[in-house]
Amino acid sequence: MQFIKDGCTRLLVTDIVERTLHETVELAKEVNSTIQIEVVVGDLTSEEFVEELLSEVVKSFGGLNYAVNAAGISGKSLATDEMEFEEYRVVQRTNMEALWFCERAEIRVMLEQDLVDGYVSINFIVNSIVFGDLL
Ligand SMILES: NC(=O)c1ccc[n+]([C@@H]2O[C@H](COP(=O)([O-])OP(=O)(O)OC[C@H]3O[C@@H](n4cnc5c(N)ncnc54)[C@H](O)[C@@H]3O)[C@@H](O)[C@H]2O)c1
Repeated sequence: MQFIKDGCTRLLVTDIVERTLHETVELAKEVNSTIQIEVVVGDLTSEEFVEELLSEVVKSFGGLNYAVNAAGISGKSLATDEMEFEEYRVVQRTNMEALWFCERAEIRVMLEQDLVDGYVSINFIVNSIVFGDLL
């Protein structure tokens, strides 16, 4: 919401859960009723989905200035000896692989532009803030 308060007028939001996205749209419209906001439901652990998502961003908005990578899960709170490997893998796929798919696709789009503003990843394993001149 802070991006909208600060003047962002066009954005795309994505999540694997559709309901929460619609809640986000409602909140965004309360901040700016004329906001152009696209909703795409999908699984960011899919490399193909992430690539299609960034293509959609470029098609709709002509480029990408900012991205916030917030999708993440904490997984079940289990001791290592009680955990199945699949539990571990789901957390790794979501918090590491999906984040990497997103960052790579975003950076590729940003590097093709003259204007590179930056992106923020707040996913809980990898926390990073990268600005254009550091890319
Ligand atoms: N809330 C906290 O105290 C806290 C603290 C430190 C870090 N974090 C991290 O910051 C991020 C945001 O936190 P939050 O409280 O908003 O978490 P949240 O659970 O409210 O939001 C994370 C979102 O990621 C989505 N998601 C999960 N897997 C996905 C996938 N494969 N594809 C697409 N979307 C997927 C979920 O549906 C959810 O809407 C998370 O990565 C979280 O781990 C949160």
